[in-house]
Amino acid sequence: MFDYSNLFSVPSGPAYFDSAASSLTAKPVLEAMAAYYGKNRANIHRGAHRYTHQASEQYEAVYGKLAKFFNASDQEFAAVRNATEAFNAVALGLDWNAGDEVIVSDVEHHSNFLPWLRLKEKGVKIKILVSDGDGTLSADALSGLLSKKTKLVSFTACSNVLGATVPVVELAKAAKDSGALVCVDAAQYVGHRPIDLKKWPVDFLAFSGHKVFGPTGIGALFHRHDSGLEPWFVGGGTVRDVTLDAYALLEHRERFEAGTPAIAEWIGLGAALDVISKVGYPAIEAHDRALVEKMHSVLSQANGVEVFGPKSVKDKSCALFSFAVENVSHHQAAVMLDELGFAVRSGHHCAIPLTRKLGVDGTVRASLHLYNDEKQVAAFGKALKTVAQLG
Ligand code: ALA
Repeated sequence: MFDYSNLFSVPSGPAYFDSAASSLTAKPVLEAMAAYYGKNRANIHRGAHRYTHQASEQYEAVYGKLAKFFNASDQEFAAVRNATEAFNAVALGLDWNAGDEVIVSDVEHHSNFLPWLRLKEKGVKIKILVSDGDGTLSADALSGLLSKKTKLVSFTACSNVLGATVPVVELAKAAKDSGALVCVDAAQYVGHRPIDLKKWPVDFLAFSGHKVFGPTGIGALFHRHDSGLEPWFVGGGTVRDVTLDAYALLEHRERFEAGTPAIAEWIGLGAALDVISKVGYPAIEAHDRALVEKMHSVLSQANGVEVFGPKSVKDKSCALFSFAVENVSHHQAAVMLDELGFAVRSGHHCAIPLTRKLGVDGTVRASLHLYNDEKQVAAFGKALKTVAQLG
């Protein structure tokens, strides 16, 4: 297993097993942000001096990186704070009529659930796409819900609780064939698997920088040019002209960026995508596969541990694992694991409907990435045994 840990700022304490909540930051990301702050710290697209030009060039280049990374046009991306903001932006930026329908799955993170539920206030009907036991979604089940009234279908490419592989293209095709818009939560997926937006027939897709080795407070929203999305905010930087009683917005992507953006973070996001490209998805997938196999073996040997989600490598698209320890609360288990040398997340993982469906009030979640290795996973097995013996 290749050691990628020197690419990251790795903490010296417990092994970091919480990448689904937030990944570690890649060193080139920190360097890119420091270079902006240290060398050409200035606002962008405003003024004529050299620092603003340099900063604007660095900022603009990130759109080109996104376009190449996802095989889409650089006009089809907007900077957002995170995936949560992106889904709210889509819900706020589309025109809704009473009677429109939205289909959303029951494995969603609240970020891709609440913005749609809120549309009930506008008379929009919400239909739930029910997942199978392991948390995957089926195009047949979706077809049974689609109707002429379905305006949008939204689902995750990888559940943050179960890590199950989702047939994104099949689901998206079924929705598009019936005339609906398609929105995908790729927050977990982008750090682990490649996306080609010429092959994925989706209208909206969002992810957060902090889960892909980038900074917090930045993310990207892909919105296909004919999706009908209008800006959710207006203000400085978005207008061609303003009179005392009207304004005319700029075309394309400028209209979506009101106010001074998170310049350093956006540049950092670009550097994070460069890191992923440099390591390469084949290497990331191979690393994931080894970790997933090892973790499955560790979990299957742990007495008194109930594991949720797929048990086979092929059915997982992210290296994340949720489980419950018999007679030990998820919180208590996480505190003990921290003491035993492992930083895991516990709780409902911002997916209360799914947690309820699993029949628990929360799970322990171990989520792994490039800077983890099989030795750590083996040691985790021993720590888990200690925790389970308390139950
Ligand atoms: N969405 C993040 C998680 O699943 C915060 O932990």
